[in-house]
Amino acid sequence: MPWEPVIEKRLIYRSQPFGFDTAMLAGILSAARRNNPRYGITGALICRHDLYLQLIEGPTEAVDALYAVICEDDRHFDVRLLLSEAMGERLFPNWAMLDDTAPSQFWSAQDVASGALEMATPDELRAPFVRLSAAHPGG
Ligand SMILES: Cc1cc2nc3c(=O)[nH]c(=O)nc-3n(C[C@H](O)[C@H](O)[C@H](O)COP(=O)(O)O)c2cc1C
Repeated sequence: MPWEPVIEKRLIYRSQPFGFDTAMLAGILSAARRNNPRYGITGALICRHDLYLQLIEGPTEAVDALYAVICEDDRHFDVRLLLSEAMGERLFPNWAMLDDTAPSQFWSAQDVASGALEMATPDELRAPFVRLSAAHPGG
């Protein structure tokens, strides 16, 4: 059988947490860390009381399937896809799902509420994840 390259993609979406607390976040992260390695998925979840901003990277079919599951999750709402692109190198090769609850140099809650993320360019959307990746060497 001819060798077929696995096509990989990256997506970034945003959503609004429904009753954000540490127990809920722990539950989400534990599912992510249990499931994602099975599907070759890595990424990072930036979380704040008003926002989830998640980057998911991996084989296209697996990423799309996970995103479909996440969209149905009732622990958040107003899920909006912000970026979907073919991926070269992974930003989080060693993280099933890195989490960050206090991103620095980030949009304020007011910015987010007034649609800053929807207006951001792909470079601007990737930027907080690039910083997060740089802050976790090897990750
Ligand atoms: C903001 C958010 C991010 C999530 N990220 C992931 C993820 O990266 N991987 C994952 O398997 N589930 C993730 N989930 C959970 C899924 O929606 C779903 O509950 C889970 O995949 C079910 O896993 P289980 O069948 O093993 O219980 C996320 C949920 C939310 C609300």
